[in-house]
Amino acid sequence: MTNTGDFHILGTDGQARCAELTTAHGTIRTPVFMPVGTVGCVKALSPDDLTALKAQIILGNTYHLYILPGDELVARRGGLHTFSGWDGPILTDSGGFQVFSLQGLRKISEDGVEFRSHRDGSKHFFSPEKVVSIQRNLGSDIMMVLDECVPYGADKEYTAQSLGLTTRWAARCRAAYPQGSGNQLLFGIVQGGFFQDLRSESARQICDLPFDGYAIGGLSVGESKPLMLDIMRHTAPLLPADKPRYLMGVGTPMDILDGIEAGIDMFDCVLPTRNARNGTLYTSLGKVNIKRAEYKEDDRPLDPNCDCYACTRFSRAYLRHLYTARELLAYRLNTIHNLHYFLTLTHGAAQAILQGRFATYKAEVQAVHAHAE
Ligand code: GUN
Ligand code: ZN
Repeated sequence: MTNTGDFHILGTDGQARCAELTTAHGTIRTPVFMPVGTVGCVKALSPDDLTALKAQIILGNTYHLYILPGDELVARRGGLHTFSGWDGPILTDSGGFQVFSLQGLRKISEDGVEFRSHRDGSKHFFSPEKVVSIQRNLGSDIMMVLDECVPYGADKEYTAQSLGLTTRWAARCRAAYPQGSGNQLLFGIVQGGFFQDLRSESARQICDLPFDGYAIGGLSVGESKPLMLDIMRHTAPLLPADKPRYLMGVGTPMDILDGIEAGIDMFDCVLPTRNARNGTLYTSLGKVNIKRAEYKEDDRPLDPNCDCYACTRFSRAYLRHLYTARELLAYRLNTIHNLHYFLTLTHGAAQAILQGRFATYKAEVQAVHAHAE
C-alpha cells in the first residue's frame, strides 16, 4: 500500500539515486525529466503523444494558468487533468519565477508580490496563500511554494534578505496546506544566489519545514556553467536524502547528468521543446540544426539510433523541408524527437544507476555532448 508522497529509493550509485515517488495520478520513477507544458499543454503535442513518449509527469505554470484561462475556470472543469486530458502526474510551478521575470512589472513586499499581466497590463497580487489556492484549484499533483528567484548579480546583502523572505513565504505556503491535508504534494525551494554560505543557510531553513520534496531554485539565470555546477553540487547534499530533490529549470543533457550524479531526482527545462521549434535537435551523434542546407537531400533518419516516431518514419530531407516550409507538423515531429531524447536520457540513467554503471553511462553521453549545449 503506497500513499501520495511516499518516496522509495530503489538503488543508488555514488550520490545518484533511482527512486519511486507516489502521486495522486501515479508513481514516477526517478531520475525523471518533466516536459514543460506552461498553459497545460506541451507545445505542439497531445496528451496521447506524451503517453507514447512515456512522459511520466509534465509541468504547468501557476502564473500562466491564473492569467489564462483562470484557475477558477479550470476548477469548474474538474481541474487541470480533466480539462487538459492528461491523466498522469502534473507539477505546477508557483508563479514566483515567472512573475520575477516580468521586468519592471512587479513590486515585492513581505506579504507577496504585485505584478502586471504580460497580456493586458492588469494589476494582480500573489501571496504565498494565493499561489497555494491557485494550485489547489488546478489540482496539480505537486505544488511549489512561492519563492523569490534572486536575479544573477544580486549582492550578498540583498540575497541574504531575500532568502529569509523565501523561507517565510515557504512557511506560509505550508501553513495554508498542512502536510497530509489532501492528496496534493508541496515542495519547498532553496534559494541563496551564488553564495555557498547563503545556500547552506537557505537549505537549513527550508529543510526545517515539512515539505514532500525540496527544490534548488535560482540556477540557470545567466551564470557560467562552472558556477551553476558549483552551487548545485554544494546544495544537493544539504537536502534530505529521503525526499525527492528537484533542480528547477536545468538544463542541457550534460547538466542533467551532472545533476543526477550529485543526487538530484527531478528536472524540467524548456530546452528540448523550445529548441525543437527552432530546428535544433539533440541526437546520439550530437546536436543537429535541421535548417541547414546540408540536409536538403539527406535521406537518412535524423538519428539512426533513435526509435521515435520522427526518426522511424521520416528523413532528414523531409524534416528540413517541413521546417523550411514552416509546416506545423515540423513543430510536432521535432518536439517528439527532442523529448524522446531527454526522456530516454533520464530513463537510461535510472537503468544505469540500478545496474551500478552510472559513471560509464555518463561518460558515454559526455563523449557526444562535451561541446553541445
Ligand atoms: N524555475 C527555474 N528556476 C526557478 C526558481 O528559482 N523558482 C521557481 N519557482 N521556479 C523556477
Ligand atoms: Zn528521434
